[in-house]
Amino acid sequence: MSSSKPTVLVTGGAGYIGSHAVLALQKAGYGVIVLDNLVYGHQEIAEDVLKVKLIVGDTSDRALLDDLFANHDIAAVMHFAAYAYVGESVQTPDKYYRNNVLGTLTLLEAMLAAGIKHFVFSSTCATYGVPENVPITEDESQKPINPYGKTKLMVEDILEDFDTAYDFRSVRFRYFNAAGADPSGNLGEDHTPETHLIPLVLLTALGKRDSISIFGTDYPTPDGTCVRDYIHVSDLADAHVLGLEYLLKGGETAAFNLGNGSGFSVKEIIEASRAVTGKEIKAIECDRRPGDPPMLVGSAAKAKEVLGWNPRFADVKAIIAHAWQWHQKRHE
Ligand SMILES: NC(=O)c1ccc[n+]([C@@H]2O[C@H](COP(=O)([O-])OP(=O)(O)OC[C@H]3O[C@@H](n4cnc5c(N)ncnc54)[C@H](O)[C@@H]3O)[C@@H](O)[C@H]2O)c1
Repeated sequence: MSSSKPTVLVTGGAGYIGSHAVLALQKAGYGVIVLDNLVYGHQEIAEDVLKVKLIVGDTSDRALLDDLFANHDIAAVMHFAAYAYVGESVQTPDKYYRNNVLGTLTLLEAMLAAGIKHFVFSSTCATYGVPENVPITEDESQKPINPYGKTKLMVEDILEDFDTAYDFRSVRFRYFNAAGADPSGNLGEDHTPETHLIPLVLLTALGKRDSISIFGTDYPTPDGTCVRDYIHVSDLADAHVLGLEYLLKGGETAAFNLGNGSGFSVKEIIEASRAVTGKEIKAIECDRRPGDPPMLVGSAAKAKEVLGWNPRFADVKAIIAHAWQWHQKRHE
């Protein structure tokens, strides 16, 4: 797609959130190039649906990055590429530190060498660990309780130090639970393995799974099940365009929470999914899983105030309905 606005490199742009960000950038008139190693990404989404230039490669490949930056006029990088399975990060932390930290450092060094100093980073509410205050603001102390969250916090620290040393400006977005799908039904969530609640519930509604497990019913929450903040992936994507524009206009390095500010319990999500799909959705109550904080709900007041972000799909039933449309189409 030809563009009068600058070109942005989107790492992980063949994945779930990255593909929605590519679409938002295209709609806003930016040129886009995707770098994805396709370990989890979907080539056909990038090439056939988004029709974006896809470079199949890894953020740890310095020669590839140098070549890419030498041959394309890139103004900024949006960095989604990472491994994001919390449980796996506990089992094989080396894999996570290598990909999420070293891969990112290699990318940052290549950017510096090429003189590119604007960076939008996918961080996570997992950097807060078990928060002392809910809703969580950006001032909450960051004490991640698993290697995945630690890798994201390490990159956040690197970005602060790069700002001081090299005038390298970044926006760190700490997402709460990304969910939903593009309203067109052409993009959506397709992780293998899938660990996120809403797709698992909808795969159960589709008959792809027998039941959905509820891990823990004795938490100190209104119905005893864990409460999370679900944010529509298209709203996340919009925030990335705003974050990019903030940086291109000279904005300072900053961190922003991206969430809806309201929490839904596991039982509420299952009930809302029954209402949206009209399916029974069998649920089985199980013991707690270690490491699940009872309640994670974020305040995104700062993103709204500083970036002018205004989520379009705050209603959890709209989030589920878009995801349901995508899952039905994907599995038909
Ligand atoms: N999904 C969520 O709810 C959530 C919440 C908080 C933060 N995040 C972060 O958002 C980002 C995107 O998450 P997602 O759910 O879209 O995941 P995803 O797995 O769908 O997308 C990540 C993409 O990055 C690619 N990738 C991974 N390592 C790479 C590397 N070294 N080089 C090139 N490509 C690489 C994968 O192939 C995949 O396409 C991740 O950084 C994740 O940690 C996600």
